[in-house]
Amino acid sequence: MADRKPIYDVEIFKKRRERLASRLEKGSVVIVPAHPEMIRNNDVHHSYRQDTNMMYLTGFEEPGSVFVFRPGCTPESILFVRPKNPTMETWEGFRFGPDLAKQEYGVDATYEDVEFEEIMPDLLVDAERIYSRLFFDPKFDAQLESVLLEVKSLRGRSGRGIMAIDDSIGLLGELRIHKSEDEVKLLREAARLSGEAHIEVMKKVQPGLNERAIHGLFIQEIMARGAAREGYGTIVAGGDNATTLHYVFNDQPLNDGELLLIDGGGEYKYYTGDITRTYPINGQFTEVQKRIYQKVLSLQKSLVAAVKPGVTMADLQEKAIETLVDVMVEEKVLKGTRAEILESKSYQKYYPHGIGHWLGSDVHDGGLAKIDDQPRSLEPGMCFTIEPGLYFPENDEAVPSELRGIGIRIEDNILVTEAGHENLTSHVPKEVDELQSIVGSSK
Ligand code: GLY
Ligand code: MN
Ligand code: MN
Repeated sequence: MADRKPIYDVEIFKKRRERLASRLEKGSVVIVPAHPEMIRNNDVHHSYRQDTNMMYLTGFEEPGSVFVFRPGCTPESILFVRPKNPTMETWEGFRFGPDLAKQEYGVDATYEDVEFEEIMPDLLVDAERIYSRLFFDPKFDAQLESVLLEVKSLRGRSGRGIMAIDDSIGLLGELRIHKSEDEVKLLREAARLSGEAHIEVMKKVQPGLNERAIHGLFIQEIMARGAAREGYGTIVAGGDNATTLHYVFNDQPLNDGELLLIDGGGEYKYYTGDITRTYPINGQFTEVQKRIYQKVLSLQKSLVAAVKPGVTMADLQEKAIETLVDVMVEEKVLKGTRAEILESKSYQKYYPHGIGHWLGSDVHDGGLAKIDDQPRSLEPGMCFTIEPGLYFPENDEAVPSELRGIGIRIEDNILVTEAGHENLTSHVPKEVDELQSIVGSSK
């Protein structure tokens, strides 16, 4: 069986760990468990994807591992990994095991996973504080609990209780929120291939196809371009299905005369695109569809154009809400003045979500939305989505009948730069004319 190699140059992980060390108080230890394996049905697992923080700090992709980081101590970086096991490897594929993992991943020490409870108390006995992730994997929680009780006992009559455990999500989210040049390249690639897949799918859309066939085509197109998987569950929503924000069924036929909303992104080396486009299934917008679409598009473009350091996502959301409220009034979906509607928040029925989210290895990436209770200013190296939408459900009798069943979202991926921004998904058509000429062009 051929050995595998890390998918990255492991030097980048050492630099990331140095950045992490520079943010930690003395005596801190960070413990990052691998993502647990999840049963899909009977004895079959969901296909495995490593936890993003484990990936970010080590690049180690195997389940069952735990990374421990003790800045300034020896050993400083430690990986617990599954042992080599020829029988299991025959069934499930290659495992690094402790020796190869140490050699290939540039950590100071490696141990077998089963040694965790035995080795860890000594590694923690002088620690002051732990950052980790609890209440996600009960098996890991139980192991950590047993280690902490042992540490308490090792400390004897020191008068100290069990060490504090902070959720590492904040610490590591903040570490990840500014993307390095290496990461920007990967995000650009994820955005590029995701966008190309959207374009290929557009060409094939036509009435009568099932949402599922389109979903399959999207997966084919991202994976053919090097994506390992989808970055999240792709949404393929024809007609009224697009008014369900995270529509999951993707199993209905595409009807002539309706719109199709596709929200999909491919994950490339653990970085994902997150793109939404909405267009007519038969390639031609009706007048009503075009009118609403252009209002959302014009807002979306103005929001993208406004991005530069110092702007906040809250500023963008405020502008989006005001504009969409005006649209709702013009279109007789809501009655009242802008001020009254803003006050009552009745617009939330048709625009219920935020303007976007941080984007990176996780589609909804880590990082604080507010600092000191104030919306956070955008800074160079941050990446996020801009995705305004309008959703008029078919069964909502308060909505003029010509609008019912129209759901539109337009989503791009934006990198903040010194000069302003870079739209990583600008290659994906969104103008009415462009869409009308491409949709169905090679069906
Ligand atoms: N694809 C999920 C989202 O746009 O947030
Ligand atoms: Mn999104
Ligand atoms: Mn999306």
